[in-house]
Amino acid sequence: MVSRRKFIRNTAIGSTAAILNPHLITGSWPEAHSDMLRVGLIGVGLRGTNHLKNLLLRQDVEITAICDIDPKRLDICRAIFQETDRTEPATYGENEYDYRNLLEQENIDAVIISTPWKWHVPMAVDAMEAGKYTGIEVSAATTLEGCWKLVDTHEATGTHLMILENVNYRRDIMAILNMVRKGIFGEMVHFRCGYQHDLREVKFNDGNQPYGGGVEFGEQAISEARWRTAYSLERNADVYPTHGLGPIAVMADINRGNRLVSVSSMSTKAIGLHNHIVAVGGADHPNAQLKFRQGDVITSTIQTAREETIIVTHDCNLPRPYSLGFRVQGAKGLWEVDGNRIYVEGKSEPHKWDSADSWLERYDHPLWKEYGEFAEGSGHGGMDFFVLNAFVKAAISKVSPPMDVYDAAAWSALTPLSEQSIAQGGAPQVFPDFTRGAWPSRQPFDWIENPY
Ligand SMILES: NC(=O)c1ccc[n+]([C@@H]2O[C@H](COP(=O)([O-])OP(=O)(O)OC[C@H]3O[C@@H](n4cnc5c(N)ncnc54)[C@H](O)[C@@H]3O)[C@@H](O)[C@H]2O)c1
Repeated sequence: MVSRRKFIRNTAIGSTAAILNPHLITGSWPEAHSDMLRVGLIGVGLRGTNHLKNLLLRQDVEITAICDIDPKRLDICRAIFQETDRTEPATYGENEYDYRNLLEQENIDAVIISTPWKWHVPMAVDAMEAGKYTGIEVSAATTLEGCWKLVDTHEATGTHLMILENVNYRRDIMAILNMVRKGIFGEMVHFRCGYQHDLREVKFNDGNQPYGGGVEFGEQAISEARWRTAYSLERNADVYPTHGLGPIAVMADINRGNRLVSVSSMSTKAIGLHNHIVAVGGADHPNAQLKFRQGDVITSTIQTAREETIIVTHDCNLPRPYSLGFRVQGAKGLWEVDGNRIYVEGKSEPHKWDSADSWLERYDHPLWKEYGEFAEGSGHGGMDFFVLNAFVKAAISKVSPPMDVYDAAAWSALTPLSEQSIAQGGAPQVFPDFTRGAWPSRQPFDWIENPY
């Protein structure tokens, strides 16, 4: 929970930024129809609470309702409100479907869904049907059926859905996207990305704290260990593809002139989680008997319609420092995040890497130049500010978001497709065309000039 002093400091920063940049808070951005968005939050665990704190810093958002089945989480949110001069929201959470009562309220324009993955599709479908502009946490869906349901519901209702992929707003990613759009790397050829994050202490805890301290999961655990670990037990799949694939898909114009065509995936053995249980809980702990299905390193190679390849890695069960492993390579040069290096033919010394720093500074995205200092207070290095800003601005304007339902479906589809491919020894799987043939003529979203 945010400390009072920190909260007041953040709020003060918000006020200063508001004075300096009036359109940041007033909603007077070019497309704005109204200047206030009334938001309902569904799921206020670690992520949803983070969204709450960031939204409370904005004068163009009112939080009118909150839903969570864990009363402790609602208490945490009430305490956060008590440190502000904001009106406390209505709360829901009597049972797992109480969110539907929230969706019936007329004083809600938009919802943000930050619940466990199994709830994403049913909640997003209900939210779109209720006409609420829908923000959905990552990944959007874990089955192809779920991906299609999101698309079908959007098309049937006309309600927009935005996948809240914050990594698309990371400062280096936006600078590299700027370089891609300006043709610095030439025609795109190859990409690498992934989710490489030691999650052992996220997947197991002691039931009192969200990170580590024990090797419990499911009912005995809290936070993500309560629900996320089951996917490691049950599914040999890349279950968290969008932090890597989202940014790359935008650079590659996926669903907008290009598309994901097929994927071949392979998985390693699964020893990381077992080793962790034995090391922390002892060989006699009952969880040491479990057989985890999710391979420790899962590698998927995607082919695009423009004949690029994208290698996506899921690596969350072994000791390792965090990296999303980005590589963006074109006919004239490439960026690699590991090593922080760039090579551009004709600009870099032949066969020698440049440090990426001066390139990233030179091509810094206009949004980061303008709001970077303010954004950095918002968590995850500032990208959380920008992704929420885009959501709020697009929802106020009632326009299609930068990362829409077709993106949510295509990126999330890697989970079931990687699972099918692994089960068939790496056999290629075909990506559905969620745009139903529209992808060649859909125009890329203007990530560089758009004001959010
Ligand atoms: N974009 C990011 O950087 C990022 C970071 C963390 C988590 N996430 C995503 O956010 C989502 C939530 O993750 P988290 O870390 O907050 O998990 P969490 O377990 O801390 O929070 C989930 C919350 O949902 C509540 N919930 C469960 N079922 C519900 C229901 N039927 N109705 C209402 N509330 C319900 C739980 O009580 C819990 O408080 C996940 O999809 C996760 O992948 C994204």
